[in-house]
Amino acid sequence: MDLRDPSGVDLALDWLFHDLMRRRQNRRLAEELELGGQERVMDFGSGSGALSRYIAHQLRDGGSLTLVDLSPKLMGVAKKKLRRFNNIEYKVGDIGKLGIPDKSYDVVHARHVLHHIAENQRLRVVQELSGKLKKNGWMFIREVSKKDHGIPLKVIQTLTAKSGLKEVSTQIEGDEYIAIYTKNQKHKK
Ligand SMILES: C[S@@+](CC[C@H](N)C(=O)[O-])C[C@H]1O[C@@H](n2cnc3c(N)ncnc32)[C@H](O)[C@@H]1O
Repeated sequence: MDLRDPSGVDLALDWLFHDLMRRRQNRRLAEELELGGQERVMDFGSGSGALSRYIAHQLRDGGSLTLVDLSPKLMGVAKKKLRRFNNIEYKVGDIGKLGIPDKSYDVVHARHVLHHIAENQRLRVVQELSGKLKKNGWMFIREVSKKDHGIPLKVIQTLTAKSGLKEVSTQIEGDEYIAIYTKNQKHKK
């Protein structure tokens, strides 16, 4: 699918594969963030909001969620899915150009997005995301690691280490991994 300008068929397939078939997984992943409900959370590369809506459910105690994506069309779909929540911000564009203040999020979550970013842009993007985290903030990166698709864990480990993020845990689930980081206090940004 053309992520920037998906067709009607692409959107239907996106709903089938990401909303319907992954419904249980999405709910589980949102629960595994173990949110208290009052956090500021960013879902980076939120796509059509299939997972974001379950994260939003966890933020019923004064927390808020920001969806960030490059695709206005997918963001439009996400807005419809999340219309009943009043604690959501929607931001379309490059993370470095959205005017989001540094140190303003407790959690940044990024599923299946970093491998879509050009190799020479990945470090800049991960550094931007790290910069948005508050002291003691958490970053969750979920990626695919297949031979012909995704991004190897080693690459993520290098990018995060260069961005002042300290690895807390990594779990491998089949072709995917979930890596959790905290902001390293000694890093300058
Ligand atoms: C495969 S989808 C994943 C959507 C969602 N995270 C999920 O797991 O259901 C990848 C998304 O990343 C977005 N994306 C790609 N490059 C991006 C960037 N530099 N900044 C923000 N979003 C980006 C695409 O527009 C697309 O919506």
